[in-house]
Amino acid sequence: MSLLLTGIGELTTNDDELGTLRDAALVIDGPSVVWAGPAASAPAADSAVDLAGRAVLPGWVDSHTHLVFAGDRTTEFAARMAGEPYRAGGIAVTVGATRAASDAELTAVVRKHVAEAVSQGTTYIETKTGYGLDVPNELRSAVLASSEVDEVTFLGAHLVPGDWDADSYVDLVRGEMLDAVAPHVRWIDVFCETGAFDGPQSRAVLAAGAKHGLGLRVHGNQLDYGPGVRIAVEMNAASVDHCTYLTKSDIDDLASSETVATLLPACDLSTRQPLPDAQSLLNAGATVALASNCNPGSSYTTSMAFCVATAVLQMRMSVAEAVRAATWGGARALRRENEIGILRPGSRADIHVLDAPSITHLAYRPGVPLTYAVWRKGERAR
Ligand code: NIG
Repeated sequence: MSLLLTGIGELTTNDDELGTLRDAALVIDGPSVVWAGPAASAPAADSAVDLAGRAVLPGWVDSHTHLVFAGDRTTEFAARMAGEPYRAGGIAVTVGATRAASDAELTAVVRKHVAEAVSQGTTYIETKTGYGLDVPNELRSAVLASSEVDEVTFLGAHLVPGDWDADSYVDLVRGEMLDAVAPHVRWIDVFCETGAFDGPQSRAVLAAGAKHGLGLRVHGNQLDYGPGVRIAVEMNAASVDHCTYLTKSDIDDLASSETVATLLPACDLSTRQPLPDAQSLLNAGATVALASNCNPGSSYTTSMAFCVATAVLQMRMSVAEAVRAATWGGARALRRENEIGILRPGSRADIHVLDAPSITHLAYRPGVPLTYAVWRKGERAR
């Protein structure tokens, strides 16, 4: 059954040829877009919806979340707002709560946050393990997540648990833990940061993942300058996420690579870090993605619209740059830029309709819920 969406006031396609169209229409059939162009030349379809001048864009691609968790870190957040620094060690609190939770409780948490994200226009979600940090809990995190989200990343190397020395734990992650988890995930990730994993440990984890056929991602340069970006680029990771502290050479490395710089502004705000230098990355020619980093410690939001508004209002990205980063950029960070984050014949019918005439309203009306309708893989989701 085909469906014609017509009366589109502004259609952001992210396709180089189609560009941004006014008075446009889209036709979807099953899970795919089959036509996009001017409303006046739209083909007939089995049914039609008139969007009365509203803006349409690809659904948000949230390429960085940590949704398999239990418990709450409100107290830690409140202490931070009162002046305490963010410490990666807070991860251990969530690990304790996650290990103690039942499968049903963890699944309910993932579902709740996925539903919250979809209702705000997110149509493709990556999530990570990383709050289990032992073989059974990393394995069950991966298995649970794989039936609730689009892509799963193994983040056994999130923090060294208190009862381990770092090198022995790295051996566990790249050995028995990876053997167990790899069949359930597409990616491997490592938190390369002082207080988590150093450069050689990070390389060892990523190399082991690559041997298992997993794609690579890195948490890097979040809390200070460090080797994360360089390692990600050298090892051809799909993305390096955070990028809050970048040297000129980090920016040049990213610009000359296939590695996406994924910026997580909600996290930087929530941890009282500076916001990343998106303009230097874009000017150098790097690909930038925006993601929510939804997790209970450093960034407890599913709102990609909040990230986009922050990127525009406080990071000086244009609205078009921020929207592209939160859609096509996220898709590129997952190496799926020809399928998602783009609206053209053959792409996935992931469609976000705003109750506004243009994407500019995402920054012009910050904090206002503008999602009017969502189709996810061709199914009406809101
Ligand atoms: O991406 N940086 C490491 N991991 C998460 C934080 C998780 C936490 O504090 O629980 C992040 O910010």
